[in-house]
Amino acid sequence: MSSNRVHIFDTTLRDGEQVPGCKLNTDEKLMIASQLDNLGVDVIEAGFPVSSPGDFQSVQAIGKLIKNATVCGLTRAVKNDIKVASEALVYAKRPRIHTGIGTSESHMKYKFNATPEQIIERAVAAVAYAKTFVEDVEFYAEDAGRSDNEFLARVCEAVIKAGATVLNIPDTTGYCLPDEYGAKIKYLKENVTGIHNAILSCHCHNDLGLATANSIAGVLNGARQIECTINGIGERAGNTSLEEVTMILKQHPDLELNTNINSRMLTSISQLVSDTMGMPVQPNKAIVGANAFSHSSGIHQDGVIKNRETYEIMDPKDVGAADSAIVLTARSGRAALAYRAKNVGYDLTKRELDTIYVDFLNFADKNKEVTDTDIHQIIKMNAVSKRMYA
Ligand code: KIV
Ligand code: ZN
Repeated sequence: MSSNRVHIFDTTLRDGEQVPGCKLNTDEKLMIASQLDNLGVDVIEAGFPVSSPGDFQSVQAIGKLIKNATVCGLTRAVKNDIKVASEALVYAKRPRIHTGIGTSESHMKYKFNATPEQIIERAVAAVAYAKTFVEDVEFYAEDAGRSDNEFLARVCEAVIKAGATVLNIPDTTGYCLPDEYGAKIKYLKENVTGIHNAILSCHCHNDLGLATANSIAGVLNGARQIECTINGIGERAGNTSLEEVTMILKQHPDLELNTNINSRMLTSISQLVSDTMGMPVQPNKAIVGANAFSHSSGIHQDGVIKNRETYEIMDPKDVGAADSAIVLTARSGRAALAYRAKNVGYDLTKRELDTIYVDFLNFADKNKEVTDTDIHQIIKMNAVSKRMYA
């Protein structure tokens, strides 16, 4: 299964909602799920149904509501989890059960106190049982990032035989380097019998700030699904950010990998998730941060005013953001001041600009940012003394 289409599996409502203090109620989850469907994600992981009655109810309600995307419920490799997930998914048009177990030395030894053979048996039993309820079964090998590749390949082969349609290879602890994660996917692609019957999926955490880089390394090596969240929210340092991976693929047509995402919705959905979860987006966040298209140093501003593409690799409109902003600070030059003054109605001559620029710098040195109101003030004050704009 190696087309150029990368499936986007959104887990904002499951892994993302695991952030302490970000719990959502069913209505809030429905609102986000419906926007994710409009955004064009392929899969919505709606929750972990066995974890609480509230989560069960939310997964069920999302399954009823969603028209296009596959709706997925998480389980452990435990019969009751799987049965409960299947009940939560009864109304979904395209239901998926996402089941799995840890495959690293540390998970097998400390979490499960089980031998590798027992882990394979439990994995196969979970997939086979999930298959009695739904056709679409995704298997996750938890902590695959730190799992031995040969053992991982054996697990994948066994669960494909049991009917798994998607193989999730999570870097649960965010440990891998991009080369290492990419090589892992390549190894599985080349060494698992039957791999062409399944989709390999990247699920990367951001503990070392490498979640996006690792996911991209994964798809460059043959994975065709990325698991991600809006704003990159999630456990600890978060998950892969949906807006980052989808814009990387869009801005690099040379990679010949595409998604179904309507990028113009990225800013609004980022704000929706941030507002409903009460989790602010850092201003310098790629794609959706408040400063993502702001320019404040004189050198950059001069370039952007002449041609936006000198310092911007994407059009803000393509991600639904407002226009590029020229922010006035003490680092700004005359070009930026003239540009902003013109926007508020002053077409300054070179001589006027030279005099006003001195007042502007004095003001800017004492203030973090110079606003439109400040520009009026600075020009008016100067006009009184110099008789300009009387
Ligand atoms: O990070 C992880 O390993 C997970 C799995 C439960 C899919 O979130
Ligand atoms: Zn995770």
